[in-house]
Amino acid sequence: MTISTDRITFITDFLKREIGLALDESKLYLIRARLLPVIRQHGINSLDALIDEVKKNERCEIAKQVVDRMTTNETLFFRDKYPFEALKNNLLSTLVSERPGFSRIKIWSAAASTGQEAYSIAMTALQTLDDAANKVSILGTDISSVAIAAAKEGVYKQMEVRRGLAIQDLANFFKQRDEHSWQVKDELKAMVKFQEANLISPSLVTNIRHYSLFDIVFCRNVLIYFDLKQRMQVIDHIAQLTQIGGYLFTGAGEMVQGQRSVWETVRIENRPVWRLVSK
Ligand SMILES: C[S@@+](CC[C@H](N)C(=O)[O-])C[C@H]1O[C@@H](n2cnc3c(N)ncnc32)[C@H](O)[C@@H]1O
Repeated sequence: MTISTDRITFITDFLKREIGLALDESKLYLIRARLLPVIRQHGINSLDALIDEVKKNERCEIAKQVVDRMTTNETLFFRDKYPFEALKNNLLSTLVSERPGFSRIKIWSAAASTGQEAYSIAMTALQTLDDAANKVSILGTDISSVAIAAAKEGVYKQMEVRRGLAIQDLANFFKQRDEHSWQVKDELKAMVKFQEANLISPSLVTNIRHYSLFDIVFCRNVLIYFDLKQRMQVIDHIAQLTQIGGYLFTGAGEMVQGQRSVWETVRIENRPVWRLVSK
């Protein structure tokens, strides 16, 4: 079924504006496939009618579900391994030893999806530092309310814990809930907070600022969805929320360049990591 040009323009503009997702008409099949469950759930007749609902009220529940369905939440525990090796073998102990008196190391998982990245950081801290629960705090944020709800719950299917988790970590940090799922233990949960946040929203910085500045930020496998201008804005937002000298991990091949902020690359564990020079 064909969709009118103005509806295609509206929905692609909406997705670009709301989540920075750049899609054109050639990706209509993807929009259709992802939104089919929302159409069915609300008993709406067609994609046209769904788009009209969003057009009428961009803040309605259906619009929120459209955003959720269009985000790609693919993630796994200890993804790419080396950022966690860098934390374990270098950054966490260095930052603790540089601390004057008591102040926590603050780490932000800025596109946290369903929480695997943030919990992997917490497991790494517990494996590396004595009394890690009092030395490290972690914030996980994501635009997807469904992903954040799952992250807060901390329950993972057998298939999800098989992706990236060592057997020993599963035994140490998870309780088996039933035949098919595992629950993150309270010790791990206590170190991580989750909240919704849109990286391209102008209110991001005020939304997150009350956590005080971060020492380390993970912003991985999300910058690729933004165009250059939005990417630079996101990088500047992150800089505003990061200590000078703080570190930023991105996904493989995700370049860091701000409009105002300046970052350098340093090598840790023989891999490049971004470090904030000025903002
Ligand atoms: C592919 S996942 C990456 C998850 C994790 N960082 C990793 O590397 O495994 C991308 C995540 O970015 C989130 N995302 C997409 N656009 C976003 C935005 N504008 N603001 C915040 N999060 C966003 C998606 O909801 C999704 O959970």
